[in-house]
Amino acid sequence: MLRRVLGLRRKEVRLVSQLFNLNAFYDRLAPAYAAAMDLAPVWRRYTEAVLPHLPDSGMVLEVGPGPGLLLARLSARYPLVAGLDRSSGMLRQAGRRLGRARLPVRLSRGDATLLPYASGSFDAVAMTFTLSAIPDGLAAVREIARVLRNPDPDRKQPGGVLVLVDAGYPGDGNRIGTGLAWLWELFGDHMRDEAALMEEAGLEVITRREFGAGDSIRLVVGQKRRIMREAYDAGVSSARCSSRRETK
Ligand SMILES: C[S@@+](CC[C@H](N)C(=O)[O-])C[C@H]1O[C@@H](n2cnc3c(N)ncnc32)[C@H](O)[C@@H]1O
Repeated sequence: MLRRVLGLRRKEVRLVSQLFNLNAFYDRLAPAYAAAMDLAPVWRRYTEAVLPHLPDSGMVLEVGPGPGLLLARLSARYPLVAGLDRSSGMLRQAGRRLGRARLPVRLSRGDATLLPYASGSFDAVAMTFTLSAIPDGLAAVREIARVLRNPDPDRKQPGGVLVLVDAGYPGDGNRIGTGLAWLWELFGDHMRDEAALMEEAGLEVITRREFGAGDSIRLVVGQKRRIMREAYDAGVSSARCSSRRETK
């Protein structure tokens, strides 16, 4: 049965996914999503897999923080943290969580493919289960590469890092992982080779490993190794950032 179901071609899966694409409903899903994440310790484990790969200090951005589970951990650890999400419902959930814990984070509504930040603003960007929700993944990774700090060879300072956790098809094709990735895809997510996207966007992949749920979860870390001049700055001036709030 499973083989027959998994035998559906990617194109057919895409068609079904368009019918009930959960990504289109993040605003409405936000309260339920926040409650579910709080009750799922395994989710916390997956998202917190980014933590050991972030620098000890500096400015950190989380793209697509959703209800802010990881963002709360980040803001307890770094004095300067920003979170950007497209969904105002998710930002409301994150704002509440951070407000309750009195954690200062700059929350912005915006799109990962057009970030409202100057080039080289961040030492690290964290992103969990968000790239798969974005149709133009390369545009998002390029934007993230732009806002990461350039390396400074004179000061022997490395470039900023993108630390990403997301779902995908397991490399060894095992049934459990393949079935789970297939389900993610059915619900509207984009399963892709994040490492290849990072390389294409000018980041060097320094870590890549599969873990959890039949190896259908992967952690990929990309570092900005070459100095990018303001190649994408033209886009920033027109970036839309519809609302901004700060929690204290
Ligand atoms: C599956 S949720 C993941 C939330 C959280 N990072 C986690 O691991 O639980 C995906 C999040 O990405 C946000 N998102 C989707 N597309 C986006 C985009 N183009 N720009 C910014 N955020 C986006 C959604 O609103 C949602 O909050």
